[in-house]
Amino acid sequence: MEIVILPDSGAVARFGSAVLADLVRKTPEAVLGLATGSSPLGIYAELAALVAAGDLDCSRASGFALDEYVGISEDHPQSYAHVLRTEVIEPLRMDPSRVHLPDGRAADIPAACDAYEAAIRAAGGIDLQILGLGANGHIGFNEPTSSFASRTRIKTLAPRTRADNARFFDSPDEVPTHCLTQGLGTILEAKRILLVAQGEAKADAVARTVEGPVTALCPGSVLQHHPHVTVVIDEAAASGLQLADYYRHVFEHKPEWQRIAVPPAS
Ligand code: F6R
Repeated sequence: MEIVILPDSGAVARFGSAVLADLVRKTPEAVLGLATGSSPLGIYAELAALVAAGDLDCSRASGFALDEYVGISEDHPQSYAHVLRTEVIEPLRMDPSRVHLPDGRAADIPAACDAYEAAIRAAGGIDLQILGLGANGHIGFNEPTSSFASRTRIKTLAPRTRADNARFFDSPDEVPTHCLTQGLGTILEAKRILLVAQGEAKADAVARTVEGPVTALCPGSVLQHHPHVTVVIDEAAASGLQLADYYRHVFEHKPEWQRIAVPPAS
């Protein structure tokens, strides 16, 4: 794992967008795995600024959402279909027909999950999966004790996750109880993973993901088995890491050919 510790959330967003922009410039038809939630919003906003300035073209890239709530319509402002449309597809000028979500309103949920897996395979797999991290260590909505071999399926949201996500809804009771999520096995097949986390509330989950034992109690820790993960975090989210100074040293001494610089604030 590569651990990139940056001073603040603005630098995290600029670095994350530089990684994505580099991929899309080299591979215009890149397949992106798209997380929602608050963690990647700064990255999407930085990418949107590059697109608006004519410095990046995402029109040939495609995307697969990491997850979707069950039972709310795609017009609901908190459905991930709506969030992806307003935060990613429109600002990045992506082709909506190339951005896919699991169907949380399907009558046959297992068939919808199988169809989603098949669509990812048909696209050639995900080139770069963006992930946030739950305070309980979840990635996607793979809550603690999710199988490391799991595929896209229905999950029951943990009470902690529903409480954390209540900030997006008018009342805690409105937070759906279920979601469809790419499985840990699905996520591990992405060619590259960019995990982003900011703030003190994520410090414990970051430390357990990066340095803890690989355990189903912290689903993020399974990323230790993936060959190409970049964890980009601010100082607050890094505050529980034992080897933070080593990670800073590694980032400062990367060979030039491996280096992606943190763009300056505009
Ligand atoms: C969202 C997702 C979740 C979030 C996580 C962190 O698509 O899959 O794993 O990334 O719950 O949420 P935020 O970023 O809102 O703190």
